[in-house]
Formats: sequence, C-alpha cells, structure tokens
Amino acid sequence: MNAMTDLSIELPRPPAPQPLDAPLGPIATLRVLRRNPIETWTKAHYELPIVAGPTILGRIAVVSYPPAIRRIFVDNTINYRKDPLQKRVLGPGVSGGLLDVEGDEWRVQRRTLAPLFTPRTVASFARAMNAAAEDLVARWMRLREGRIIDIQPEMARVTLDVLGRTIFSDGIGRDFDQFVAAISGYLMKMGRLDPFDLLDFPEWVPRLTKLGSTSAETFFASAVETIVAKRKRLLATDKGAAPRDVLTLLLEAQDPQTGTGLSDAEVKANILTFILAGHETTANTLIWSLLLLSLSEEWRTRLEREASTVLDGPVEDHAARLIETKAVIEEAMRLYPPVASMSRQAIGPDDLAGKRIRKNSVVIVSQWVLHRHRLLWENPDCFDPRRFLPGARENIDRFAYLPFGAGPRVCIGASFSLQEAAIILSHIVRSFSLELPKNHVVIPVQTITLRPQGGLPMILRRRDYCACSAARAATVQPSGYAASTT
Ligand code: HEM
Repeated sequence: MNAMTDLSIELPRPPAPQPLDAPLGPIATLRVLRRNPIETWTKAHYELPIVAGPTILGRIAVVSYPPAIRRIFVDNTINYRKDPLQKRVLGPGVSGGLLDVEGDEWRVQRRTLAPLFTPRTVASFARAMNAAAEDLVARWMRLREGRIIDIQPEMARVTLDVLGRTIFSDGIGRDFDQFVAAISGYLMKMGRLDPFDLLDFPEWVPRLTKLGSTSAETFFASAVETIVAKRKRLLATDKGAAPRDVLTLLLEAQDPQTGTGLSDAEVKANILTFILAGHETTANTLIWSLLLLSLSEEWRTRLEREASTVLDGPVEDHAARLIETKAVIEEAMRLYPPVASMSRQAIGPDDLAGKRIRKNSVVIVSQWVLHRHRLLWENPDCFDPRRFLPGARENIDRFAYLPFGAGPRVCIGASFSLQEAAIILSHIVRSFSLELPKNHVVIPVQTITLRPQGGLPMILRRRDYCACSAARAATVQPSGYAASTT
C-alpha cells in the first residue's frame, strides 16, 4: 500500500459544503448563486466527467474531464471566448487590460507583457516580497501573545504591500490604508454575482449589488493616474533615477514584433489588472494555507523546520528551496482554488468527449469541482500536501489541476504569486503558530475569489512563546461544513 492510500494516516478534512443530491429549483438556484455558487454543485458534478443541459441561465456544460478541458483551453481554444458574464463580474476597472481584451489586441498585449514575468524578473522581486513579509512579522511581534486577529485583512494588506513594492517601488504617494480600503471595497462590490447579470439584463439597467462602487473605483483610478504621470516625468527627465519596478517595465515595454509600446490607457488598465488579479487571489491562497496548517500538526512542524533552514540563506534562493511550503500552498489551491471557476462561450458547435456543445452555449470548468472530483483524486476532500511533493507532483494530470487556468490565457502572474506566497507563508510559520478559535465556523464562499465568509479569526501565538499546543482547537461546524479527520 502506498503512503497516499494508507488509511492509518489521519488526514484532516477541512470545511466544505456537502454536494447536493439533486439540482435546486430555478428560484433557489438564483438565490444560492448570488450567495455562494459553490453550494449549487450536486453529487453528479463531482462524479461525472461532464454534466450538460438546459438551466435557468441557458445551456451550460460543466466539464471536469481533462481531455475535454484540454480541448477547450488548448486544442480548440479558437472556438471558445471569455464568457460575457465573467467580464461583467470583473467590472470596468480592468477593461482594456490583459485579463479583459480578446483577439489581436490580447496577442499584442500578452507578447508585450511577457518579459515582466520571466523567471529572472520574478526572482528580482524576491527581495521586495521578503521585506513585506518581514514587516508583517515585525508588526505581529508587537501584538499581545494569544490575541485573536482577522487573517483576511492581514493577508490582503501584506499582498497589497508586495504589489506596492514591486509595481511602484517608490511608494503609492497616498495613505496606504485608504488605498487598501478602496481596493477591498471595489472587490467586494464587483465580485458579487448580480441577478440582473445572471439573467443577462442590458448594461444600462443599474445593478443593485454594485451601487456605491464608483467612489472606490474613482479613488483607485485617480491614485494610479497620479503615480503614472509622476513616473513618466521622471523617465523623461532622469531615466537612470527611475526604479526598475513593474511600472518602469510597463512604461518601457515594447511589442517584440513591432517595437510599439503600450498606450497610457493600457498601462493604467494593466496596473489595475495586476492589482485586482494578483492581490486577493494570493491573499486567499495564504489565508487557506494558514487554516489548513492549523489542522495539521505534522505539516506545521515540517514547514517550521524548512523555514528555519531556508530563510537564513540568500533571498533569491528562497522560492526554489521552500519545497514543502510550496506543496502546502499547492494543496491549499487545490482544496480552495482562489479562482473557483472559469467560463467560456462556444462560438460554434463542438464535441466534448461525445457530448454535443451547441453554438453560444456556456462551458464551465469549475476548479472547485475539478479539484475535488471523485474520478481524479484520492481522498479528494482531505488535506494531503504529499500529492505535490517532487515525485508525486508529476503524476497529476495537467488538466486536472488548474488554479492558474491553462492554455494561451493561463495566468501570467502564476510564478510571481507562488514565489510571493511561499516567502510570506514561510516567514509566518517561522515566527508564529496560528490556531482557530474554538467553535469558529469556517464557511468558504465564492465571490470574485474564494474566501472564508466573514473573515478568518485566528489566535496568534509566537513560536518562541508557545509550547506548541498539542491539542488543536476542534472546530464545531454546522452540518455540511464539518472540519474533521478521516
Ligand atoms: C494565487 C494567485 C493567483 C491565482 C489563483 C490566479 C488565477 C488566474 C486564473 C485562473 C487565470 C485565468 C482566467 C481565465 O482563463 O478565465 C488568471 C489570469 C490572469 N492573471 Fe492570475 N492568478 C493569480 C495571481 C496573479 C498575479 C499575481 C497577477 C499579476 C501580477 C495575475 C495576473 C493575471 C492576468 C493579467 C491574467 C490574464 C492573462 C491573459 O488573459 O492572458 N494573476 N489568473
């Protein structure tokens, strides 16, 4: 029996909604989709390769069969465009940026932006990531031992700090807390699925769930506008004095085929895109990793040991050497994918593993379902980072694990965020042990990203302080959200 199937090893089973026996009725579907889309999935979705048919939202195929996913994202990607609903949910802030554009416009932007995310450029950001992590640790060190902190705003703050240091390394020129609040407000409003969006009402019909988002958006856009104008002046007058950060790289980026640079509007749209696409996703990866570590004494100890050997070495080597830390992060993104689903619209008819896909129908690849699919994973609902250790990782089908998507539109910031998450997580575990307060119920909820509902309170214990509590707080969960061990 291999280690993965050895049932004598107790694996933590972190909180997740129970699959439904049968689909909900039309009204209930709309209500639950708005509240928490991951609660609409049925047993069939977790057990069958493809579930297709008419729904209240039109013809939808939910695809969890790796060869068919490969066809959508790689082999026949020309037939699938980004679903208009997904675009509407993201909102106007990222309009004209890489995440949003299509066709030739996308091809030119992707080519132009690729040099910003090469392994060498990403490695050059390690120092900034390390500094942000050290600041977080220093701030937590000043807090009272045993204090309960909400991990959600803490991780939002540190990931925004990293983006601030890597995009605008000479500062954002405004109150950092106000900037954080503006972005969080924008994401909270934009991430909600509005019933009018779901029912495809015209754009001019105001969305009740999005009223009030304009002020956060305006603040955010005007802050970026000021920073870009200032840097352009600096580059024009004293190029050598400009920092080599993402902003300078963006302003100097050129299409390798034509030599054309990005327009001002494209520079701004991509700064907003990087912040919106890279901030909450990485923050949530860290939040879920910390929750999962609080359920596993074994992995906490392994990561503490790794942190104490790696973090004292050269900063540039951290990401490559934090192997067990990265396994925990990858397992966290399997169980709690920050982007919990991707949708595409079929431009023409297609055949996906024998299922007919009609023109205009929507295909959904839900990472939430795919990563817990009964046909693809052993102990799918259990926390077991061994799957991602070298030796086992290679056996995972490329199209069964998609935290960063796949094909030409795969996340451009994947290695940036993995490096960032590994450095920050390692710094945290080296100095602290975090525990869930007794009786706290964790409910994963899918908004624009997958986050714990109402935040994640955790008890902060300094490692030099605690005798590392043997008994972890057993969490009492309502039905369907049980955290337990198998
Ligand atoms: C854990 C962190 C992250 C996760 C889970 C994540 C996930 C994803 C996914 C799933 C997609 C593909 C969406 C689709 O095909 O519909 C995507 C695209 C994208 N991501 Fe990320 N992302 C993360 C971090 C970042 C960071 C740090 C940045 C930038 C600094 C970034 C920038 C982008 C951009 C620009 C795209 C669009 C790429 C294109 O269409 O060519 N992401 N991301």
